[in-house]
Amino acid sequence: MSGHGTPTPMQSRAGGPLKGTAEIPGDKSVSHRSLILGALAVGETKISGLLEGDDILDTAKAMAALGADVERVGDGEWRVNGVGVGGFAEPDNVIDCGNAGTGVRLIMGAVSTSPITVTFTGDASLRSRPMGRITDPLTLFGAQTVGRANGLLPLTLVGAHEPMPVRYTSPHASAQIKSAVLLAGLNAPGKTVLIEKEKTRDHTERMLRGFGAEIETVETDEGFEITLTGQPELRPQTIAVPRDPSSAAFPVCAALIVEGSDILVPNIGLNPTRAGLFTTLVEMGADITFENQREEGGEPVADLRVKASKLQGIEVPSERAPSMIDEYPILSAVASFATGKTVMRGIRELRVKECDRIDAMARGLEAMGVTIEEGEDFLIVHGQGGKVQGGGKASTFFDHRIGMSFLCMGLATERPVSIDDGSAIATSFPIFENLMKDLGASIMRNNR
Ligand code: S3P
Repeated sequence: MSGHGTPTPMQSRAGGPLKGTAEIPGDKSVSHRSLILGALAVGETKISGLLEGDDILDTAKAMAALGADVERVGDGEWRVNGVGVGGFAEPDNVIDCGNAGTGVRLIMGAVSTSPITVTFTGDASLRSRPMGRITDPLTLFGAQTVGRANGLLPLTLVGAHEPMPVRYTSPHASAQIKSAVLLAGLNAPGKTVLIEKEKTRDHTERMLRGFGAEIETVETDEGFEITLTGQPELRPQTIAVPRDPSSAAFPVCAALIVEGSDILVPNIGLNPTRAGLFTTLVEMGADITFENQREEGGEPVADLRVKASKLQGIEVPSERAPSMIDEYPILSAVASFATGKTVMRGIRELRVKECDRIDAMARGLEAMGVTIEEGEDFLIVHGQGGKVQGGGKASTFFDHRIGMSFLCMGLATERPVSIDDGSAIATSFPIFENLMKDLGASIMRNNR
């Protein structure tokens, strides 16, 4: 069972402006889905630009354990020979998804309507995250699950022998729940319907359509109703994974707060269900231009040019939360430098991410001399109008985005910012440290 290795304490400090081009790795959400749908198609799917972070490598291993032929043929270049919908083989060992909530939840969905038994586990963080939100709808398809108290991993899932299609209204704004239900619906006869009240990232729907599934979304009084026709034969695809806007957020935000910075961040996926942070930053006064706007592989893409900016605190509309859910940690770090308050409401979901991100950011920001207000589903950051003290040490709780947020913050604080452990950064953005250093950032490992 995976645990966390030796911690990597890190520090960042203010230096010169950030300059140059940031080549961001592939999108984590799209990377997981490319491997999973590739494994469910008949024939060879070719993937380029795959994120080679730990989370994705765990999903690749899981697909191989379930019978797909998964091969790395070059940097970010992968081939997946799929087994077809309903074709997963029973793995002969536990599937360990490491730190990846998206990985484990989507794979649970994908196997739940196949007549196989699979035991899932993950690292300490993943073993503390709620799985009932996934197993509840999967049991409606006829799957059975046995986990620890409160449905925590490790958990054994017995896939449905005679799956039934399901109509399910998601109780949370979660693309993971939606995707698990749709992937389960692939091997159920008839139409599976998923209703979400707020629109969450739609990569699964776009990609299912690309693989030839019959899927449609209509807006009704209840919300967004997605209907998938089960048991299609998925056709293999050639997928160019767009670059991850959630990873781009770190150099973009760092450039905004480090005086004199001017960077280019090319080829960033700007799917509207993901781009909420950029809208928010522009509303705060950020100098970001979206150059060469185009469409690639069914996803909108642009090159971002970002210049250091004086920011103004704002109230972030709570209905925007699903489109920037992973970006609140870095937004709250940047908001410390703004003039006035930044109010972030409707963010309860942050409490069940890789760690409780409201608490982790609140405690870390306080350690850097920033005044915050915090509630069950909100965080308010009192901007310091440019000057932020820093000098503290933030606990990251093995959460990649908490670690990167504080390291970016330290590039503009008066005193250096330390984090207790940066090793989780490799789960989603393995080249973060080098990429930031190439832009001119002073980031170091304390144990060197
Ligand atoms: C993801 C969905 C989000 C997000 C996660 C990736 C996905 O989680 O936080 O990093 O790829 O579907 P929720 O669906 O639980 O909000």
